[in-house]
Amino acid sequence: MKVFIARNIPEKAIEQLKEKGLEVSINRSRKHLPQEQLIAQCQDSNFLILVGNAKLDSLFFEKCAHLEGIALTTVGFDHVDLAAATKAGIPISNTAGSLRKTTADIAFLLMIAVSRKAFFYAKEVREKQKRSFDFMQDLGIELEKKTLGIYGLGDIGLELAKMAKAAYGMKIIYHNRTKNEEAEKLVDAKYVSFADLLAQSDVVSAHVNLSPETKYKFNKDAFKKMKNSAIFINTARGKIHQEEDLIVALQQGEIWGAGLDVTDPEPISSENPLLEMPTVCILPHIGSATVEARTKMAVMAANNIICAKTGLEMPQVINK
Ligand code: DGY
Repeated sequence: MKVFIARNIPEKAIEQLKEKGLEVSINRSRKHLPQEQLIAQCQDSNFLILVGNAKLDSLFFEKCAHLEGIALTTVGFDHVDLAAATKAGIPISNTAGSLRKTTADIAFLLMIAVSRKAFFYAKEVREKQKRSFDFMQDLGIELEKKTLGIYGLGDIGLELAKMAKAAYGMKIIYHNRTKNEEAEKLVDAKYVSFADLLAQSDVVSAHVNLSPETKYKFNKDAFKKMKNSAIFINTARGKIHQEEDLIVALQQGEIWGAGLDVTDPEPISSENPLLEMPTVCILPHIGSATVEARTKMAVMAANNIICAKTGLEMPQVINK
């Protein structure tokens, strides 16, 4: 049985597949294959490991309906037409739980970096601008005892809440589809409506999957309801906020700052005004970019394929 791996992944995962008797074919390039090449490569394969966020649309599932399982190497699955996969009878797995701490670290980093204008100062240092001491200018704000509002308190949000509580004694409020009782116990998180989350938070951090319900949830109406001193953090997906509305909200002082690991589109245009704002920090989607997390994600994907090959359900299947 053969698995096609759509981009390079750590050897540990490849070895596991081989040890279990799978024939491995791999695109060693660091780029996504164009769709027609991906479809062609899958023709004599039983399984696919999709690396990163290459799109799998209904055409792909029409042409590759023979596949017996596809393992994503991501937690997010908005790049995959799940309905078409299910219609074709192909189970899809993700890597839920693999990047809990790694992504929470980036949200925490952005929260501190924005509050202290770190990217703005780092740019000044790099560009060797001479700065004379000014008691009143370009000051940051502190996080101590402030309120952190989490939109989508799952495993990543909980990790962030633990760090924020331990480091700054932050009060945690959250808005979810369903209450998270574990988080309520562990970090004394309080469930609030979305409107209250916006109105009460000093920092709002988004940790939801992209879905029709969450798309552009942070738009001009939402930003208007936030405190003028608030910081918005997004490490989930770029389309959870409306970028034009975010720019206007920052320009008009409706909110104070923003930290984004995800933008719409990615990569962000070098002309985007957000890049010049002193209270904005932007990273290029590095929420899972550590050796440890990427290895965990690849090994998890390999394990899902090994289970599918053995006729077992993939442990992280998302389209039962
Ligand atoms: C994920 O796994 O969804 C991360 O965003 C990496 O793309």
